[in-house]
Amino acid sequence: MNSCITGLQWGDEGKGKIVDVLAEHSDIVVRYGGGANAGHTVVVGDSTFALHLLPSGSVRPNTICVIGNGVVIDPDILEKEIDKLAQKNITLTKRLLISENAHVVLDYHKKEDQLREDSLGQNKIGTTIRGIGPCYADKVGRSYAIRMADLRDLKKLKAQLGNIVEYKNKIFAALYNAEPINADQIFEKCKCYADKFLPFTTDTTEFLHKSIADGKSILFEGAQGCLLDLDHGTFPFVTSSNASPLGMPAGCGVPAKMVDKFIGVVKAYTTRVGAGPFPTEQDNEIGQYIREQGGEYGTTTGRPRRCGWFDAVAVSYAVTIGATDSIALMHLDTLTGLKEIKICRAYEINGKETTFFPANTTKLLQTECIYETLPGWEEDLTEVNDFSDLPLNARNYIVLIEELTKKPVTIIGVGPKRTQTIFR
Ligand code: GDP
Ligand code: IMO
Ligand code: MG
Repeated sequence: MNSCITGLQWGDEGKGKIVDVLAEHSDIVVRYGGGANAGHTVVVGDSTFALHLLPSGSVRPNTICVIGNGVVIDPDILEKEIDKLAQKNITLTKRLLISENAHVVLDYHKKEDQLREDSLGQNKIGTTIRGIGPCYADKVGRSYAIRMADLRDLKKLKAQLGNIVEYKNKIFAALYNAEPINADQIFEKCKCYADKFLPFTTDTTEFLHKSIADGKSILFEGAQGCLLDLDHGTFPFVTSSNASPLGMPAGCGVPAKMVDKFIGVVKAYTTRVGAGPFPTEQDNEIGQYIREQGGEYGTTTGRPRRCGWFDAVAVSYAVTIGATDSIALMHLDTLTGLKEIKICRAYEINGKETTFFPANTTKLLQTECIYETLPGWEEDLTEVNDFSDLPLNARNYIVLIEELTKKPVTIIGVGPKRTQTIFR
């Protein structure tokens, strides 16, 4: 059984928790896209792990972890992450595989990300400044890209870096009047990356296909969310990769038809970090309540997340493009205490009602939300472990989400811990 877990909103839906829970029954967990812009939280007992590049299966001692070709790898962050796990006696020595075709995020990518965002002022995207956009841009541009396999030939790499840094410095000076970067320093860091990571670097596509032939069970772990997808999200306020399930085959070399189940993860409300349209946003005391109850502050940047009502139009769109089979609904517990809870069931754009999400920022900014209002509940849900024990109003809320998205909610999150999960 192979499953793919992806976010159906603007990221931070709780993918890390679900992947960790499902990894108990999986042999391999694969990250296939994004980079250290992701922050996936896994809570095990009293320990909380924030994973940026390692798959969320890494905290389970026997799970094989694969970082696929579609991921952009910041080796500094990866090293820190591996060290943090080692402090908790979790070692990845024999169970981490890194694609030789994955691209490497270097210091000049992060500098470029920062300089560009600063120069955009009011129009900035609100990126995580992890160098994601510039690294993917170099990948698409090809001539100035560095992949993990390039760390194998240091002599050639030194020459490559010399050319790249010369080119980048011209841009930094001309566009931003910024200090140049030093090619030798970057090369010295790359020598350390080679020592550290080449033992893990391999042809992960071959490994995955052999594993499938051997009947292994694989979990594919998406980063970000469908609405941040470069092609299908709210462009330009998106990330630079195909964060929907459509990115999975390209990001690891395994065709989608080899996946038995696509599980879409959503929050029982909506959050977004960074700029961009957000039709159901509640920039008021309701949004504030959700933020504080749900601890809605970024895992990667610590920024407060924008909060709003569940948007069934947006999620239905994500379900459609992602061929979602079932939904994991997280953070139901966070809504406890609200008198009324709203769900957006349709949009009105220029006087016309629609239930199909327009992935178009201009239209989204003109959108009026049409809501259904349901009564809330007062009960604490964090100890509930059976659907039938949820308050009637909470069950009705879930049933309405199922009706509007036309997909079954098979997993419900009532807290960050593994045990705070209801399976239906
Ligand atoms: P991801 O990026 O999709 O992996 O999500 P993040 O880890 O960035 O953000 C989700 C946050 O919600 C983390 O702090 C999780 O520990 C927490 N979380 C996950 N599921 C639940 C849930 O059902 N209830 C509550 N209260 N917290 C949850
Ligand atoms: P996980 O995997 C939430 C957002 C950023 C910004 C936009 C572009 O934890 O769900 P980037 O640095 O990618 O160029 O930023 O995308 N973003 C995320 N928002 N969760 C994430 O990942 C995100 N990764 C990127 O906030 O708006
Ligand atoms: Mg996150």
